[in-house]
Amino acid sequence: MKHDMPAIQLIGLTKTFGTVKANDHINLDVHSGEILALLGENGSGKTTLMNMLSGIYQPDEGNIFIKGKAVNIRSPKDAINLGIGMIHQHFKLVDLFTARENIQLGQRNNQAFSPDEVCKKLGLKTDLDKKIYNMSVSEKQSVEILKVLTRGADILILDEPTAVLTPQEIESLFKILRAMKEDGKAIVIITHKLEEVMNISDRVAVLHKGVNVGSIDTAKADRFVLTQMMVGRQVDLQIKRALAKTGDTILDVHQLSITAADGQKELQSVSFQLHAGEILGVAGVAGSGQKALCEAIAGLQEISGGSILLDGKRIDGLSPRDIIKRGVSMAFIPEDRLGMGLVGSMNIPDNLLLKTYREQPGILLNRKSAKNEAARMIEGLDISTPGLNTPVQKLSGGNVQKVLLGREISLSPKVLITAYPVRGLDIGASMRIYDMLNEQKLKGVAVLFIGEDLDVLLSLCDRIAVLSSGRLTAIVDSKFATKALLGMKMAGLRTDKEDAYA
Ligand SMILES: Nc1ncnc2c1ncn2[C@@H]1O[C@H](COP(=O)(O)OP(=O)(O)OP(=O)(O)O)[C@@H](O)[C@H]1O
Ligand SMILES: [Mg+2]
Repeated sequence: MKHDMPAIQLIGLTKTFGTVKANDHINLDVHSGEILALLGENGSGKTTLMNMLSGIYQPDEGNIFIKGKAVNIRSPKDAINLGIGMIHQHFKLVDLFTARENIQLGQRNNQAFSPDEVCKKLGLKTDLDKKIYNMSVSEKQSVEILKVLTRGADILILDEPTAVLTPQEIESLFKILRAMKEDGKAIVIITHKLEEVMNISDRVAVLHKGVNVGSIDTAKADRFVLTQMMVGRQVDLQIKRALAKTGDTILDVHQLSITAADGQKELQSVSFQLHAGEILGVAGVAGSGQKALCEAIAGLQEISGGSILLDGKRIDGLSPRDIIKRGVSMAFIPEDRLGMGLVGSMNIPDNLLLKTYREQPGILLNRKSAKNEAARMIEGLDISTPGLNTPVQKLSGGNVQKVLLGREISLSPKVLITAYPVRGLDIGASMRIYDMLNEQKLKGVAVLFIGEDLDVLLSLCDRIAVLSSGRLTAIVDSKFATKALLGMKMAGLRTDKEDAYA
């Protein structure tokens, strides 16, 4: 008798979309009590493979064995019955219902455990009677996890669960995953962040262009080995800060205050200047006022005090369209990437037209130049797509995002605001985005970069502004800043030196 029967065994699994071989004869085992990280560049076939386990797609070829038994997974319901639960990037919860109601929805007879039991076992602190619309992304994610566990899932698949979580939220998710592993569950996690792979997984399997190029014990791996496996060659993982001469002040944010409709002070008297040929980073824990700041500059959010000047002229109060016309572009990568100004059912050229059309109403839609521009963008950003006519929603997550940022850059802005531009991007694509931002800086564009990774902020940006609860607590030269200093300022603390002079 075989002692260590894999929880999942895939043999020769193949899936083709038109001309794209998304999965090419993939073999893969996952064991109970194991956390397997699934790694690969954008478009390498990770989500497709997992979707065949969760019943969303059926394989063209190959076999799936669950606990040693050959199975046909024809629908998500089949997957649930086999004990497979997948946490997708886009949650499927009913906003107006509570966590408990969502968990009970549609599972009258097949609830293996009560949500209270599961919470207790895993040490989860989810408020089961809170309504979904009052929840943060991370709370909603816990509800999704509870949903599959109450149905008795012992195989868990998480597709980029950390892409939009804060470092603290990621740590609590990992605690839950470790508890589930101790409980004997088989877990597959997809993530692009190599530190996370090193931190949470026992083993790593790497896909490259639809092919499984091998797996490795995490203990034997490091960032360089994994990148090499993923990309097929060595990659320079050093982020460069382009040397450019800082020019005139382009954007002048002066004592900007924003009060939300519910009276909450989102920004309080924030002042800074952004220069041509400069990348100014903005650091802060999530929800410190980053969104309000970006939206105020782009004209999407009414301000309650202060002013915003572009080239010495006030732009606060102008319409978003007028602000775009004056040369301010914004690419904000939100939690829901398809939600941000791209139309999923349209192809890349049409999505480009959408923006230029809104920018200059009245001009004739120029389909031919949009097609050329789209072709340039696909080439320049290495966007993987079957063709110009493919709807954006069929692209892999990371490729959707390159389209978003590429479109903003194609407008040749004076000020480029970019928030979380590498969310969900693989390491190579992230490096390409940093290069693109450096290129913009060298062209004299004033770049405002809202980031979450302090190492990235420190290496890429010229200066870093720190937001803490809606206040600007510091603006520092990156060359002289440290992570410890940024951390203190993010928490709104004063340094010893400041205390000495206070
Ligand atoms: N429904 C579909 N129709 C056509 N092509 C598809 C479809 N789903 C996926 N693809 C293609 O299959 C390939 C693999 O996509 P998949 O989403 O599995 O990649 P991924 O590894 O999850 O990428 P990412 O890291 O960007 O999420 C891509 O080239 C994608 O464009
Ligand atoms: Mg994916």
